[in-house]
Amino acid sequence: MAATRPLHPALVGPVKGRVVVPLARIVGMPGPTAGSAVPVGRARTLAQVYRRFGEVDAAGASPLYEHVAVALSESGEALRAIEAAPARKRHPTVILAALHDLALAGRAPALAAAYAAADGDAAAAAAIDTLLRMTGSVVAIAMRRRVRADETGRCAVLYPAIAEAARRAGANAVGLIDVGCSAGLNLNVDRVGITYSNGQSLGGPSSPVQLSCSIVGGRPIPALAIPEVIARVGVDLDPVDVTDADDARWLRACLWPGQPERAARLEAELALAAAAPPVLLQGDAVEVLPGAFARVPAGALPVVTTTWALSRFPLESRLRFLHRLDEAAAGRTVAWVSAEGVGVAPAIPTLGDRRASGHSIIGLAVFDGSALHAEAVGRCWSQGRFLAWLADF
Ligand SMILES: C[S@@+](CC[C@H](N)C(=O)[O-])C[C@H]1O[C@@H](n2cnc3c(N)ncnc32)[C@H](O)[C@@H]1O
Repeated sequence: MAATRPLHPALVGPVKGRVVVPLARIVGMPGPTAGSAVPVGRARTLAQVYRRFGEVDAAGASPLYEHVAVALSESGEALRAIEAAPARKRHPTVILAALHDLALAGRAPALAAAYAAADGDAAAAAAIDTLLRMTGSVVAIAMRRRVRADETGRCAVLYPAIAEAARRAGANAVGLIDVGCSAGLNLNVDRVGITYSNGQSLGGPSSPVQLSCSIVGGRPIPALAIPEVIARVGVDLDPVDVTDADDARWLRACLWPGQPERAARLEAELALAAAAPPVLLQGDAVEVLPGAFARVPAGALPVVTTTWALSRFPLESRLRFLHRLDEAAAGRTVAWVSAEGVGVAPAIPTLGDRRASGHSIIGLAVFDGSALHAEAVGRCWSQGRFLAWLADF
């Protein structure tokens, strides 16, 4: 394994403009700050958490979850059952997904019927009944699983940045490595169709997965196609395998009931992914990345992508992740496309934006063996539903 070169100060603190650093000048520095820190408010009781989730988070988005969450908040028995789970697994998104999983698995037929009938009162009664009868199963699912929000919506921001990375590196073929990949849906970025609100479109117009994205500001996005993708590798501590029935059901369970458009899109995404599943490597990205690079054939540009993943890495791991890219670049050009909160991705300029300001920065870094070129090529909101492209091309 190549020796780790310490990082240049410009790579680890927030930087405003474009960064070009000779890799030979890379020296050590402490890491970036925590990114989007979550303010700690007054502690709420579990009942208050469930009521608020129902009345604020679910209201409008899923009337069924609004009913169910409020009913749970008012049932002492249900709240005691939820307390059988460890504190970090008691959140409504986890418990409701676990109940939904049991319904989809045919183990809670009354709940499944109530969801199918969009009957909020029946769903609330069935959810409480299921929770009380099957507390152990609900808790076991909650403990085993992480709530997923896999959506190819991220592809609307990834697509132009990956195509631009390939252009800058002069690559005719790429190998995609998605870090913190969850189910690896980002790895189908070249197989979806994307329509932008400014009239531009990218990807496959006849793909079963069609996305839309609103362009903010007047700049167009690069009208470039991603070159041939010859490797697709996902890296995650706990990857989700779309070809595994239980894993695929869990992705469905994480959707809120009563949202048929999202459900239909997930089905199309799962079918697309299952038709040519990526290689999934399980483990800490810092450990697994060398093996991921090894799966990208010589002649193809390895393009590492991270979408809202690095905030889950301890600060030191973010720097070690950057070192891994640097090490891989000793033998070939490597690109990294990121969509992360402001200041979360080391080396990527923050444009002077405040951390935790509600949007994310799209970073493009090319490690070309002699230098690292790191640039913030855009801002995005709502995990890729809105995009402001900033870079020249
Ligand atoms: C918030 S999710 C983001 C998932 C996906 N990229 C997206 O855009 O929805 C963070 C993902 O990073 C993974 N993860 C966290 N720490 C990791 C690590 N050290 N190495 C690899 N994956 C990690 C988690 O398992 C999880 O799937």
